Amino acid sequence: MATGNEGVHDVTKPPRIPLVMDVDTGTDDAVCIAAATLCSDAIELVGIGAVCGNVEIGKTARNTLDLVDFLGCDIPVHVGAAQPLARPLCTAVSHGATGLGDVVLPAARRNYAQGGVTELIRRAAERHRGTLEILAVGPLTNIATALSEHPELASMMKRITIMGGALRGGNMTLASEFNLYCDPEAARLVFESGCELTMVGLDVTLKPELPLSVFDRIRAAPGPQADVVGRVLDFMMRRKDEFGADDPNLHDVIALAAIVRPSLFKFETYYVHLETAGEVTRGMTVADFNNISKRPPNARVAVDIDVDGFWNWFVDLFGAAG
Ligand code: BDR
Ligand code: CA
Repeated sequence: MATGNEGVHDVTKPPRIPLVMDVDTGTDDAVCIAAATLCSDAIELVGIGAVCGNVEIGKTARNTLDLVDFLGCDIPVHVGAAQPLARPLCTAVSHGATGLGDVVLPAARRNYAQGGVTELIRRAAERHRGTLEILAVGPLTNIATALSEHPELASMMKRITIMGGALRGGNMTLASEFNLYCDPEAARLVFESGCELTMVGLDVTLKPELPLSVFDRIRAAPGPQADVVGRVLDFMMRRKDEFGADDPNLHDVIALAAIVRPSLFKFETYYVHLETAGEVTRGMTVADFNNISKRPPNARVAVDIDVDGFWNWFVDLFGAAG
């Protein structure tokens, strides 16, 4: 039945955010991708780039393509860097040998998209000039490469949200977080690019500890997203006892939440220096709390999260699917 409103734009709803994701899938990357495919009211997922990190590029790219295919989503997956900019790759043990723990997905029936991640970002930034956002939840190699080959991209995009860094502490060294430790030269380039940045680091991503009730509700929820996330969470909950790996931290999807539910976070703005050298300080993010550098802020940093609000959002997202 015609309502008379056909073709009328709903002015009460903000426009969807055109988003490119860059991932090193990765258990928590898989959770982040699955969640992102359920956020179509808030984001338009333009494409996904894969980067080496948690495991080698052949595996992060394959995991990403198989996952997107399993979820029944027609999102192009582009293959990116096989090595950090200036160092050998150091992978993470927490995601198991394949990167997806013991979760096995059917092989995708389609292939990777043509062109690398630079091409994906360049084309997306031209098409969505001034509104494109990037969510980078792996080492920043692909993003740094795109920005150094096309510096104009920094002013063409709206914002890059980074899962990485920490104002305090680390998970790779005493002072640095895995993604930025993995490719600190790339991280410095991105932090110095002039692009608007949101840093979602360990200060917030270590706060939500997976409650058993959330696990149970995801396992009971319908649809392929809840199916795969339930299996990933199951692996994450066993991995500490089985091989001494990390607690079930969901770092990457928390950075997604900072885009689609920013009201769950408290942000502070700082100039953040990226340290590239040192046994403990490689990849460390050092915020200029006292304005010593006299440099303008380059990052909006998530410093606190509404943990209950985050879990409610997460459970509702998967519960409402299917
Ligand atoms: C980050 O490192 C990776 O192992 C996770 O996927 C996440 O992106 C957390 O430090
Ligand atoms: Ca990741």
